[in-house]
Amino acid sequence: MYSAAITGSGVFTPEHSISNDELVAAFNAHADLFNAENAAAIEAGTLDAKPHSSSDFIVAASGIESRYVLDKDGVLNPERMFPNLPKRADDEPSLMAEMAVDAALQAMAQAGRSAHDVDAVICAASNHERAYPAIAVEIQQMLEIDGFAFDMNVACSSATFGIQTAADMIKTGSIRSALVVCPEICSAHLEWRDRDCHFIFGDVATALLIERDEDLDTPHFKIKSTRLATQFSNNIRNNNGFLRRTRDEMEDRRDMQFMQNGRKVFKEVLPMVSKHIANHMDDEGVTPDALKRLWLHQANKTMNDYIGKKVLGRVPDATEQPNILQDYANTSSAGSIIAFSKYSNDLATGDHGIICSFGAGYSVGSVIVERSA
Ligand code: COA
Repeated sequence: MYSAAITGSGVFTPEHSISNDELVAAFNAHADLFNAENAAAIEAGTLDAKPHSSSDFIVAASGIESRYVLDKDGVLNPERMFPNLPKRADDEPSLMAEMAVDAALQAMAQAGRSAHDVDAVICAASNHERAYPAIAVEIQQMLEIDGFAFDMNVACSSATFGIQTAADMIKTGSIRSALVVCPEICSAHLEWRDRDCHFIFGDVATALLIERDEDLDTPHFKIKSTRLATQFSNNIRNNNGFLRRTRDEMEDRRDMQFMQNGRKVFKEVLPMVSKHIANHMDDEGVTPDALKRLWLHQANKTMNDYIGKKVLGRVPDATEQPNILQDYANTSSAGSIIAFSKYSNDLATGDHGIICSFGAGYSVGSVIVERSA
């Protein structure tokens, strides 16, 4: 058996960001339009008026201050309220592939590797731009990588499930290395007209290069152990599959986008994740004192604070448990990898950290890593 290590990481960040104030101004203008258009029904009591959103609520409930998106104008147009992402021709690169390639090139450059050093590409994301051919195969072709590629989806946990998949293939010797990319266009599956969730998501792409650990001569993170778990729940759900019953179903059905029962998620996922991490660390003999960093899924600041405190047995300081959600919002599978990519270089040889993602399924994945010079 071989062992596996993370040798490079990269983050593609879209050009445009939307502050809470900009987002709330657009939402409130949309709500005013809606209420004016439906004044008679609202007056008659057959329809509820749409209430305004507020930046103060968003920060207090989530810790999110802004988000990056591929298209700002479409999202902020009160009469449109969804991104304008024109359909691309079949001979053009898909959006997800383009974003992932950008992040992948950064990860390969950090590791000092080129295409012929990579044997596989895994595109691990919450939503895929098309059913087939796999986005991963397109990324493989754009990067001129030999070998194979495939897509996988475990919602917000896709990155850690992708890491374990790549690491296990490296350990058994079927491949020497893999890129695990997480391109997330969350703006396209978010209902920007729904006050309860319009602030939650942003767009981004991340990449990790994972290689056989033997004879590495550049700084890297040994993958000491991975652990995954799932438990069925309907509390985070998107019914946008391939079956259609009527032609205009897409127009009519709110459930074809992200839906959640946020309160229940909060209550049910927290104990699941805290226990998962504690058991994983215990089984691997990693004590809280030995843990230098937690790179957590980035959905909600209060949730992360709670998990950090449970795991360490005290309030972690900001450097021990870095959050990026204030700038990026929830970027689904990419969140923990953005945190890892931006806040890992300062760790010293022998330091341990844990990457943990969680979300729909429910699903939770943890990866214990050790810094090596
Ligand atoms: N602006 C102002 N008020 C708002 C609002 C907004 N944008 N959205 C909701 N509210 C109101 C609600 O109507 C509700 O009012 P009420 O008490 O009069 O009924 C109140 O604020 C509380 O709403 P609620 O939805 O219960 O808020 P919350 O404190 O649970 O926070 C989440 C909402 C989504 C931020 C929080 O539940 C969460 O983060 N959950 C976990 C999400 C998660 O991890 N999901 C995984 C996705 S991958």
